[in-house]
Amino acid sequence: MKILVIGSGGREHALVWKLCQSSLVSKVWCAPGNGGISQQAECVPANLADISALADLAEKLRIDLTVVGPEQPLVDGITDEFDRGDLRIIGPSRKCAQLEGSKIFAKEFLERHNIPTARVYGVFTSAPDASNAVEHLSYPIVLKADGLCGGKGVLVTESRSQAVDFVDRLLGKREFGSGGGRLLIEEALEGKELSFIVLSDGHGFLPLVPTRDHKRAFDGDLGANTGGMGAYSCEGIVSPAIDAEIRERIVEPTLTALGGNNCAYRGFLYFGLMLTSAGPKVLEFNCRLGDPETQAIVARMDFDLGEVLAAVADENLKVQKLSWSPRASVCVVMASGGYPGGYEIGKEILGLEKAAALPNVSVFHAGTRRERDAYYTSSGRILGVTATGDTLDAARRTAYDAVQRIEFSDRHYRRDIALRGCLVANIGED
Ligand code: AMP
Ligand code: GLY
Repeated sequence: MKILVIGSGGREHALVWKLCQSSLVSKVWCAPGNGGISQQAECVPANLADISALADLAEKLRIDLTVVGPEQPLVDGITDEFDRGDLRIIGPSRKCAQLEGSKIFAKEFLERHNIPTARVYGVFTSAPDASNAVEHLSYPIVLKADGLCGGKGVLVTESRSQAVDFVDRLLGKREFGSGGGRLLIEEALEGKELSFIVLSDGHGFLPLVPTRDHKRAFDGDLGANTGGMGAYSCEGIVSPAIDAEIRERIVEPTLTALGGNNCAYRGFLYFGLMLTSAGPKVLEFNCRLGDPETQAIVARMDFDLGEVLAAVADENLKVQKLSWSPRASVCVVMASGGYPGGYEIGKEILGLEKAAALPNVSVFHAGTRRERDAYYTSSGRILGVTATGDTLDAARRTAYDAVQRIEFSDRHYRRDIALRGCLVANIGED
């Protein structure tokens, strides 16, 4: 098979890396890719906002299967566009992708189907109505812009003045553009977060290994929300009882309801969960794989991803079994200093070979540009340094050993990725 991966981040590098190992795959292209990806795949320039040009590209390259990384093309309907041209693609239809594209659509769906989620306090389009509501609620509360806002559309807050300010920026000044026309206010849930991603062919599903992301910029979960500063995965991250509850109360009813609405889901579906004292509840859906969760997940894949994705495209996933390495994996994101706020780019990255030479390490590139044999930073998140080990602690040590071999000026990374997981003696209780 000739494969096209769409996207340019660490998630896409991890997919390319794994797909290059597939016995069924003869060549991988990536649109547009990045400096690191260009070592393994042929990168082609692309505008991800132009889905018909992406279909033309797949046709021109005679691609057998396209895999979509980021949400925007899916929400824009890339799968429908490819289906019209009889081009095979992994990703949900535009209708299904609304689960990520509209938080209000997702919330109404969850409530309609009795799937556990945070209680709604209100949906608003007018700034005065929303300001009035936030005056009278008890805190903490969560405010969410309805549409895609590049990770900036959610505020979890204890502070009335922060809530009022968010309402004003969203509905008053319209700072969030088209994603910010409506505001959802909901209950703040307490507990530990879990990323639970499944692969569905429209008939059945197979769960990937669960992972934990670290969303805040600084150690101790302080600072601004980011796309994700690191992730880990290991055996026992959730107990068998919680795992069963997630499948039975959340995943199965979601996929059954979508199928029943003539909206069978084909592709990766990411359940962002809060494990509360009253059981797991849905915080959000993503219609794609997570980043950096994917880097931690591919490191544990003991199966041929090309074969499994072909089975999804053929709607024949039931013949597949995903076999996972019992080893733990840890991905530490190295970012530009200042991310997720302002930062400089164009810094030379040194030590990549020394890091990659360590056993059990893969360095996935997110925001890099290659010039001959040199690499330069080109965005906020730069690398996802990923390691495996017999234990979570061993994987964590190896990942940080590799991180310390990589230099670029103003680099920033969290020192506590997977630390809490390592500290909890019985990880089933984590
Ligand atoms: P989202 O964009 O919906 O993924 O939200 C981003 C982050 O906000 C999540 O990963 C959680 O950390 C947090 N969050 C969202 N909804 C809630 C909620 N109802 N209660 C507590 N935290 C939340
Ligand atoms: N790491 C969170 C996400 O991909 O949405």
